Amino acid sequence: MALALAFESSCDETGVALVEDGRRVIAAPLYSQLTEHRPYGGIVPEYASRAHLEKFTPLLAEILREHPLKPGDLSYVAATTRPGLVGALLVGYQTALACARHFGVPLIGVHHLEAHLAAVSLSDMVVPYPHLGLILSGGNSAIYLLSSPGEVAVLGDTLDDAAGEALDKAAQILGLGYPGGPVMEKAARRYAESRNIAPGDENQLAAENPFPLILKSLPREEISFSFSGIKTALLRAANLPGKTAEFLAFHYQERIVEHIVRNLDHAIARHPKLPVVAAGGVMANTRLRRALEEACQKKSVMLYIPELRYCTDNAAMVAAAAHLYYANGIPSKFTNISSSNSFAGAPTMRAASGQMKEQR
Ligand code: KG4
Repeated sequence: MALALAFESSCDETGVALVEDGRRVIAAPLYSQLTEHRPYGGIVPEYASRAHLEKFTPLLAEILREHPLKPGDLSYVAATTRPGLVGALLVGYQTALACARHFGVPLIGVHHLEAHLAAVSLSDMVVPYPHLGLILSGGNSAIYLLSSPGEVAVLGDTLDDAAGEALDKAAQILGLGYPGGPVMEKAARRYAESRNIAPGDENQLAAENPFPLILKSLPREEISFSFSGIKTALLRAANLPGKTAEFLAFHYQERIVEHIVRNLDHAIARHPKLPVVAAGGVMANTRLRRALEEACQKKSVMLYIPELRYCTDNAAMVAAAAHLYYANGIPSKFTNISSSNSFAGAPTMRAASGQMKEQR
């Protein structure tokens, strides 16, 4: 049995988790910094770092009160090292480093996107390698081919914004509130209900969609995401009279879902029969989950999606990803703090104990 203490601080969620064997979550207290960032309609990096600094100690104390840890109980400590807000990452990393030192165990640096995909193991799902990974979050929209832990190739990335960012901005434009993804989903559902459209039948309203198809002329074989064009289209549409926020939210979300399905279809065409893991905060969207399930079913491909509570940022998924390295004896390449989402690993900043050597 391998017991891990994990830390997540890539953006605006402060998370600590105690996880056994990368799958059984013993405790995972999480602090969402919504109150700190809501007045600004988006994340203020400096406030995020400060909130992590204030919240890590009480979250850790909460875990240790319930589950006192003796030397020898822990196998390793894990922390997100990339991609993310550099200041925020540093706070989590330093806290994790102090714990690793205290317990005399290695610190395993984890790629945030790999952690999102590894979150499926928290529901006891074991996904064989190779597999496809679709990441849709506030900062990333991409499809990867995962050959083994840490061996990840990009099949297609975003040309501009991420899906979550496009939903957050849209909610701001429409005056629906923050964070955008959930409020856009609710507004879209209100519109569907007003038109007596049951969940799953949203396509029935496709003909009235006022937004252009995203990347209409993209060559069939190319996998690319883009959300800036539709954001501009929404800004224009919102300034015209006669259309409700609910109507616009519904059709905007439909275009985004359709675009994601199109890209996943092409990735599956390139790598037929590989299982697919879809993760990241935007995967909390019920409409999108259903659309991807349908798309994979049509192609007879297995689709794995983390449980809703593990779709958005959390520390349990960091332990899940670290366990892939620990259990397979593979050293993590992600030993340095970086804002980059690259899977190449960069040897610029040496760090921490065990796999990581402390920076001097
Ligand atoms: O993965 P995540 O928690 O944070 C990172 O970006 O790393 O993703 C946050 C994003 C936000 O943009 C948020 O609006 C979006 O996930 N999101 C959703 C939903 N819940 C959260 N988007 C669509 N529908 C939702 N229900």
